[in-house]
Amino acid sequence: MMHATVGIWILSAVICVGTGHHHIGHDNDPADQETTLNGSANSVSLVTSANKEFAYRLYRKLAAHADSEGKNIFFSPVSVSVALAALSVGARGETHHQLFSGLGFNNSQLTQTDVDQAFQMLLKNAQSQQDRNEGTAVFVDNRFKPEPEFLGTLKQSYLADGFNVDFSQSKDSADTINKYVNEKTNGKIDKLVETMDPNTVMYLLSYIYYKGKWATPFDPKSTKEDLFIVDENTKVPVQMMNMEDMFNTYYDQTINTTVLHLPFNSTYSMLLMLPDDMSTLENAFCPAHVTKWLKWMKSRTQKIYIPKFSIKTSYKMNDVLTEMGMTDMFGDRANLTGISEGQKLAVSEVVHQATLDVDEAGATAAAATGFEITLMSFRHVPVLKFNRPFMVAIVERNTENILFMGKIINPNI
Ligand SMILES: *[C@@H]1O[C@H](CO)[C@@H](O)[C@H](O)[C@H]1NC(C)=O
Ligand SMILES: *[C@@H]1O[C@H](CO)[C@@H](O)[C@H](O)[C@H]1NC(C)=O
Ligand SMILES: *[C@@H]1O[C@H](CO)[C@@H](O)[C@H](O)[C@H]1NC(C)=O
Ligand SMILES: *[C@@H]1O[C@H](CO)[C@@H](O)[C@H](O)[C@H]1NC(C)=O
Ligand SMILES: *[C@@H]1O[C@H](CO)[C@@H](O)[C@H](O)[C@H]1NC(C)=O
Repeated sequence: MMHATVGIWILSAVICVGTGHHHIGHDNDPADQETTLNGSANSVSLVTSANKEFAYRLYRKLAAHADSEGKNIFFSPVSVSVALAALSVGARGETHHQLFSGLGFNNSQLTQTDVDQAFQMLLKNAQSQQDRNEGTAVFVDNRFKPEPEFLGTLKQSYLADGFNVDFSQSKDSADTINKYVNEKTNGKIDKLVETMDPNTVMYLLSYIYYKGKWATPFDPKSTKEDLFIVDENTKVPVQMMNMEDMFNTYYDQTINTTVLHLPFNSTYSMLLMLPDDMSTLENAFCPAHVTKWLKWMKSRTQKIYIPKFSIKTSYKMNDVLTEMGMTDMFGDRANLTGISEGQKLAVSEVVHQATLDVDEAGATAAAATGFEITLMSFRHVPVLKFNRPFMVAIVERNTENILFMGKIINPNI
């Protein structure tokens, strides 16, 4: 059967560099939202904890696919959750049920309205923060008339920007979307689409951009070439940043993993996890670990080595989401009657792109650390060197929400 298609893009970009602050988004005081969205505190916490669990489940699926290809992994779980939740606004019947349970929402505890309100609060909260830019957009073909209620909820709860485009002009519509995405990710994701499928009637996308500034920047003058051990047979040159200072670390004996906590100059932090055995870490990693690590980390003087790198990932998520039980939306069984009663719709593809740039704190911070003048050369300073595959997560410390997570196998690809 021929049907019109709906696409979903999920984009994320994150850069961790040291130069000036960008102020992005609106000035919403999170405290205001608490009062305007009454009674939803419980749904917010249910949605938040479901989002966390979803992050790890999605990671493991992506890892299973990436492993065979020896690829880095990097994605934004919150961004994927937002896009799928926005789609679920227009899903009905079994399609809706699959999306809900795939996202980890319990039908008997949460309605779609609860979920919408929770995301509204989370997105407004995110938009009020410096360094972080997050949102959704919906591109609708001129000749397609979605249900007004669907668009209304997307705009109100998912803070979606709405656009009319002519998808039959495949080059122009691709340009329109690319331009929007480029702007929202400050140029980090500049060319998302080459051409559009002419059957497309709607594109839904979510994006997230995060620019973090280390609380204590690295000194670029100390950065030196070093080798990164990809595997037994492969060593690749990397620019290795380093710094000696007080750092919070934790050695988790249950999974033989050393965790380093590198705070940004904000309530966000990067957690870097160096396991003895990657699969032990990957299979065990769950929200409780983050809670434990943040709680029990010990501060001590250490010398740390972290490669400078820049990676870009791109996923077509259809297979992974199908494996997670979200099958019907992709085929003839799709029930998206909440988007359009009259027209038979299906999701054609779910695409996710992400970038991560890890850098020193920029040249201006060059004077910040002066450890090179160490006369006490016999002093024993523990060394923590990320010179072999490690995992990384960017978390908000108060909520332990995971903005991004990934695995760096080879910083050069
Ligand atoms: C509380 O929620 C109800 C239902 O959503 C709404 O009608 C009411 O205006 C809200 N009250 C406040 C103070 O926001
Ligand atoms: C979609 O789901 C609704 C609610 O379960 C159902 O009434 C309707 O018949 C379904 N439509 C299609 C086309 O499957
Ligand atoms: C959903 O919530 C109900 C009521 O709280 C509970 O009994 C049920 O076990 C939950 N289902 C899942 C899959 O967690
Ligand atoms: C961190 O942010 C504060 C306030 O915005 C600023 O005063 C301070 O200089 C920043 N520190 C670094 C290392 O950038
Ligand atoms: C951790 O390492 C020790 C020593 O090599 C080993 O005996 C133990 O089985 C490892 N634990 C796990 C969970 O892999």
